[in-house]
Amino acid sequence: MRVLIVGSGGREHALAWKLAQSPLIKKMYCMPGNPGIANHAECLDLKSDDWEALKEWALDHKIDLTVVGPEAPLVDGLADRFRDAGLKVFGPGSSGAMLEGSKVWAKRKMRKWGIPTADFAVFYDFDEARYHLSRFYGGPVVIKADGLAAGKGVTVAAGPAEAEQALYDIMVEKTFGEAGSRVVIEQCLSGEEVSVLAITDGQKYILLPSAQDHKAVGEGDRGPNTGGMGAYSPAPVYTDDVAARIEEEVFQPLMQGLAEDKIDFRGVIYAGLMIDKGRINVLEFNVRFGDPETQAIIPRMESDLLPLLMAAAEGDLGEMKVRLLADPAVCVVLASRGYPAHYETGYPIYSLAEAEKEGEGNVAVFHAGTVFKDRHLLTAGGRVLGVTAWDEDLTKALKRVYEAVDKIEFEGCYFRRDIAYRAL
Ligand code: AMP
Ligand code: GLY
Repeated sequence: MRVLIVGSGGREHALAWKLAQSPLIKKMYCMPGNPGIANHAECLDLKSDDWEALKEWALDHKIDLTVVGPEAPLVDGLADRFRDAGLKVFGPGSSGAMLEGSKVWAKRKMRKWGIPTADFAVFYDFDEARYHLSRFYGGPVVIKADGLAAGKGVTVAAGPAEAEQALYDIMVEKTFGEAGSRVVIEQCLSGEEVSVLAITDGQKYILLPSAQDHKAVGEGDRGPNTGGMGAYSPAPVYTDDVAARIEEEVFQPLMQGLAEDKIDFRGVIYAGLMIDKGRINVLEFNVRFGDPETQAIIPRMESDLLPLLMAAAEGDLGEMKVRLLADPAVCVVLASRGYPAHYETGYPIYSLAEAEKEGEGNVAVFHAGTVFKDRHLLTAGGRVLGVTAWDEDLTKALKRVYEAVDKIEFEGCYFRRDIAYRAL
């Protein structure tokens, strides 16, 4: 099969790495890709965001399956465009992508479909939002910009001053642009977070292994939120009992709701959940693989990923099952010092191959923000690399991952030493 991946991050590298192991792959392309992905796929230098041009390219090159990594192209209707042209796509059309593209839409659907989620209200005006804030929940509240904000549009505010500042930034300063025209003010939940991903054809779904990510930049989960500083799989909070209830309370009503509203969803649904003394609530839905959760989940899949993605894209998962490795996996993100605020790039990266070799087949280094320039691999982003290791227990996987991480060098390399601490 001829496969095209859209995206350029660690998640897409993990997908390319896994798909490259499929005997069914004849040729893999990635648009735009990155230097790590280039080991598995031919990276395309096409104009970004021009989905019409990409569609023509895919038709010309007889692409059998397109796998979309990030949310923005999905919200933008890439999958609809491709499907209208007869191409097979793993990823929802723009109507399904609203689950992630609009917090307001998603919260209203959750309410309508009977999916447990934090109590909320929607506001269109700063003064009105501020007025209501004063009598909202008394304690901490959560403020969410409505549209895509690269994972940075959510503030968990400890008190009214912080909440008001968040509202001001979103609605008056328009820090997130158009995403600031509406906000959700939401009850703050506590408990343990878990990410559960399901591959779906719109009717049936297959759950992937659970994962937990570390959003905060600092150790002990302190400091501002990032795109994710690491992840591990499985998450201990995801017991058999919790798993069964997540299916019953979240995925089953979700699939039913999508069908009732005639939303054709072929791709992955990522449920960000809060588990508190057995109570389950949905914090968010995403319509794509998580990053960096995918880097921890994918190496645990024994089954070939390609037939699974293809079956979902064709709208029939049939009796497909996923075989898993029992070994836990841990992904540690290596970032540029200063991220998620200001940071510098352009520094040479050393000893990647050694780090992987040392891992004896149980370590994979995924590129996120790197560039190959004048025969050198250089840092090119906030999150530079994701190093994943897996082993028969978590302690061994952690030892392995940090041994690999400690081999890698670049100026200003920053990472957390406490990934997966909650699972120990
Ligand atoms: P979201 O993009 O909606 O998942 O929000 C990003 C992060 O903010 C989540 O992973 C949680 O850590 C936190 N968060 C979101 N909603 C809530 C909530 N209602 N209560 C507590 N934390 C939340
Ligand atoms: N790791 C969080 C996300 O992918 O949204």
